[in-house]
Amino acid sequence: MAGKEPLVFIDGEYHPKSEATVSVYDHGFLYGDGVFEGIRAYNGTVFRLKEHIRRLYEGIKVTRINLDLTKEQMTNAVVDTVRRNNLTDAYIRVIVSRGRGNLGLDPRSCPKPSVVIMAEPVAPAHGKEAREKGITAIISGYRRDRVDGTSHELKSLNYIQSVMAKFQAIDANADEALMLDGRGMVSEFHGSNLFMIKDNRFNTPSSASGVLPGVTRARVMRLTDELGYELRERDITPFELMIADEIFLTGTMAEIVPVVKMNGIQIGDGHPGPLTKEVIRGFQRITQDPKEGVPIGATVQVQARVRTP
Ligand SMILES: Cc1ncc(COP(=O)(O)O)c(C=O)c1O
Repeated sequence: MAGKEPLVFIDGEYHPKSEATVSVYDHGFLYGDGVFEGIRAYNGTVFRLKEHIRRLYEGIKVTRINLDLTKEQMTNAVVDTVRRNNLTDAYIRVIVSRGRGNLGLDPRSCPKPSVVIMAEPVAPAHGKEAREKGITAIISGYRRDRVDGTSHELKSLNYIQSVMAKFQAIDANADEALMLDGRGMVSEFHGSNLFMIKDNRFNTPSSASGVLPGVTRARVMRLTDELGYELRERDITPFELMIADEIFLTGTMAEIVPVVKMNGIQIGDGHPGPLTKEVIRGFQRITQDPKEGVPIGATVQVQARVRTP
């Protein structure tokens, strides 16, 4: 690693963070034209990397980005970025944008996609304390976009809706903003998925409610089964949330966090519940298991030039 600065992978080369830039003509910057992934590495293993790469490439397919990097090459580049930064625990951001073009929106002016990978030690959103105490949420006035194949199932570079919802949470002095779908059914938080527990049963909104198919969500769904609980993917009304026994959110950035107040109404007894705690413990165990991801030592080093400051 050159100096102390983190190294950022840009189109096959490593650049020190202070010099890691892409063109202002990149359509990712001009139009939000691109897709991304947030991934974590735990104890030397990139957690559920295969699943993240799969979602990334599904997004690349739907948005018709002509990327000439195979999934295997992308996997190696992600792991190599963690390795080059001498990290064992990291938050990783992978961005694939349409690339540099002209000022018009026409994607054909962009001959080559841009690929950026960052890896840094980033603590879970809301901090570790939130796991013990729980956080608060409001129901945002912004609705998740309709199910049209481009808006919610795709992790695109356009997060303005989530940003606006977050502002509503900030204004209301709450930690998170929950969004409903166009019908008024519960969808997801501005950057994470929702689980609700009632009478020892787990419930989570389905894709039809405009949720991003979270990698954490999928693993937690399996975990509830491994722990012997029933889980239903179904429509959930806002009223059902208010009378839930427990609510928690899942996401790579935040991991698993109990939600103890919704719109000012206490959830359960206002403290993280026993099933949520069981899931948090189970998930922590899973993240330490090398079989749950790609160990850093299991991939080849990428031949990439390192630019020095
Ligand atoms: C809108 C939204 N929903 C859900 C998630 C959770 O997905 P994952 O568990 O794959 O991080 C994220 C996080 O990226 C998100 O941005």
